[in-house]
Amino acid sequence: MSSEDRPTLGGAHVAEPRQFLDGPPHELFRRLRSECPVHWSDGFDLYPGEEGYWSVTTADDVHTVSRDWQTFSSERRGFVALTHGVIPLELQQAMFIGMDPPKHDRLKALFQRGFTPARIAEHEDAIREIVRGVLDRLDGRETADLVNDVAQPVVARVIGSFMGLAPEDDETWARLMNTILGAGDPDMTPEGAQIVMERDLPEVFRRCGELIAARRAQPSDDLTSVLVHAEIDGQRLEEHEIVMGFFLLMAAGNDSTKATYSSGMRALMEDRAQLAQVVADPSLIPSVVEESLRMFPAFSHFARTATQDTELHGVTIREGEKVVMWYPSSNRDEARYEDPDLFDVARNPVHQAFGAGGRHFCLGAALARLELHVMLEETLARFPEIAIVGTPMQLESTFANQLKTLPVRLRP
Ligand code: HEM
Repeated sequence: MSSEDRPTLGGAHVAEPRQFLDGPPHELFRRLRSECPVHWSDGFDLYPGEEGYWSVTTADDVHTVSRDWQTFSSERRGFVALTHGVIPLELQQAMFIGMDPPKHDRLKALFQRGFTPARIAEHEDAIREIVRGVLDRLDGRETADLVNDVAQPVVARVIGSFMGLAPEDDETWARLMNTILGAGDPDMTPEGAQIVMERDLPEVFRRCGELIAARRAQPSDDLTSVLVHAEIDGQRLEEHEIVMGFFLLMAAGNDSTKATYSSGMRALMEDRAQLAQVVADPSLIPSVVEESLRMFPAFSHFARTATQDTELHGVTIREGEKVVMWYPSSNRDEARYEDPDLFDVARNPVHQAFGAGGRHFCLGAALARLELHVMLEETLARFPEIAIVGTPMQLESTFANQLKTLPVRLRP
């Protein structure tokens, strides 16, 4: 197929931040699913040096790409749409999310035992205590911002406790993760996205270097120590691999569950009848968690690179070309869901928010589900009449699908 013959839907570029100002462009995705399910964008408006990419938008195609790591590599050209734009390729390849088997599998295995649903369930009491402690800080207040006053401190402390970090450093780490994942948003990086490489990633390396030195001197039982002492085929990880492994867990822990909790709470508050239904019947909460994940996947996309010429949905993809999987689209695929744009607290759907299976399926899925369950349960029990006041603000990003603020009135 010559580049002129590629299906482009009139030349639309999918991964453009201006189309994500109010969240993912659901109307564009609906058209892509029905008219152009495997779609070619020939570049990025903001990053002229980056190459074009395929967009995959149906649940079946996302499933196919996710499960075939031999044809669709996470390593060759990185795991997000931009190959060099924010995090350089070498650093993407130092995280196991940016590796292919066998190294990916060996590194992930070091963590997997601690992240099974059964092992994660052991953390429920500790997580509930964190959530209650954060909600206690709202005593006497009439209004709050659910993103920054509730979700952020909870998720930062939960992942901070897994990584062995001091609570007084939670805010600093959260700021660093938010800035790096939100690079390009005018509030997160007023100086421009490149500031992340100049200022924030070096700060992560410096701070993490201190944590690594401390664990080399004295091993501990946290996940940072697992990285520091990991041996893959008899070899220790290099310093930048330890730092980026730490970064992966911290970024995933900070910017994912927070996003889904906030968007799920917003959807409930925008539909008072369903909010009242869940308050009256908390046994619906597991279903609310899954429906929030389906409707508002925390990450809009991950990407792969074709390792050989291949065909998907009748379209030829050439070796070396990037393939972007759009979860806000696959999770609303009308072939799978009735009334896909409707938030339905009783739907309890299967979805692709954690990926569509395969080698890179989310390590933290059980942890995220437990955190979301406890956060929703405790928030609704304490503030059953919580309501939005003011305007929630969406992060300007084609990757992190999250609200920056969600102002609420806690009681009538
Ligand atoms: C709502 C919450 C979350 C969502 C929606 C989410 C989503 C995802 C997705 C879609 C992937 C697949 C990436 C790919 O296919 O390339 C992934 C991978 C991953 N997630 Fe999550 N995640 C969440 C929470 C967490 C948490 C709390 C952790 C904490 C440890 C975590 C750690 C990871 C890691 C380490 C990977 C890489 C797995 C691999 O490459 O094998 N995630 N996540």
